Amino acid sequence: MRVIFLGPPGAGKGTQAAVLKGRYGLAHISTGDILRENVRSGTALGKTAKKYMDSGGLVPDDVIIAMMRERLQEPDCRSGFILDGFPRTVPQAEALDRLLEGMDITLDGVILFEIPRQLVIDRLTGRRICGSCGEIYNVSFKSTKVPGVCDRCGGELVQRDDDREEVVIRRLEVYEEQTAPLVRYYEEKGRLIRVDAGREGDRVVAAIEKAVGL
Ligand code: AP5
Repeated sequence: MRVIFLGPPGAGKGTQAAVLKGRYGLAHISTGDILRENVRSGTALGKTAKKYMDSGGLVPDDVIIAMMRERLQEPDCRSGFILDGFPRTVPQAEALDRLLEGMDITLDGVILFEIPRQLVIDRLTGRRICGSCGEIYNVSFKSTKVPGVCDRCGGELVQRDDDREEVVIRRLEVYEEQTAPLVRYYEEKGRLIRVDAGREGDRVVAAIEKAVGL
């Protein structure tokens, strides 16, 4: 299976991708995770990306496209992948079309996570992530047994810098301006599959599985 997860920040793309990765052995390629890893390890890419990420803006297309060109060549992509957070602009989508054509790969679908704006704000401001294993939690929707401690590995939970409310609002504006045009782009190609992402996680996963025939 080769799919794109498209949708606003906080729609649950990363959460549902982690479930499907575990279930089907797909590569989960999150551009946000790759960028955050580069920020943490202080690479040149991380230094460039940080200033855009902290303000809620997008990292320039040429930087992202070069990063994804390399990532898609890695061996784990051969058994299928979920692209989470890429493409995010029309130029990125056009570049992805060219990359996939060069690799003789066809996409199975683009899953659009549809969700009301206020729910996204509640989910993002309540999101907490394990600093050690990356497991995603939420103070309202998915809490840990011991507050602040990861159920899976015992690591400490942290809040992402860009999950502060003012940055969340900016990210939503950026989504509407720069990423929402991709809905039409993929609809015109007959690739778009709409999923109600405002429901409980298990039901969202089941809807995706049904839509792509898993
Ligand atoms: P990125 O990391 O991609 O952030 P995002 O798209 O804004 O998405 P999120 O990770 O915030 O949300 P999600 O949909 O994965 O939600 P999650 O599953 O965590 O990007 C960060 C930054 O990097 C960007 O702002 C940009 O600067 C840069 N960047 C990345 N890619 C780029 C690109 N291609 N081009 C340019 N710049 C790029 O869920 C959210 C919360 O909700 C969690 O707490 C979770 O527990 C909870 N939740 C999830 N599903 C449910 C459910 N069904 N019910 C109840 N709660 C739920």
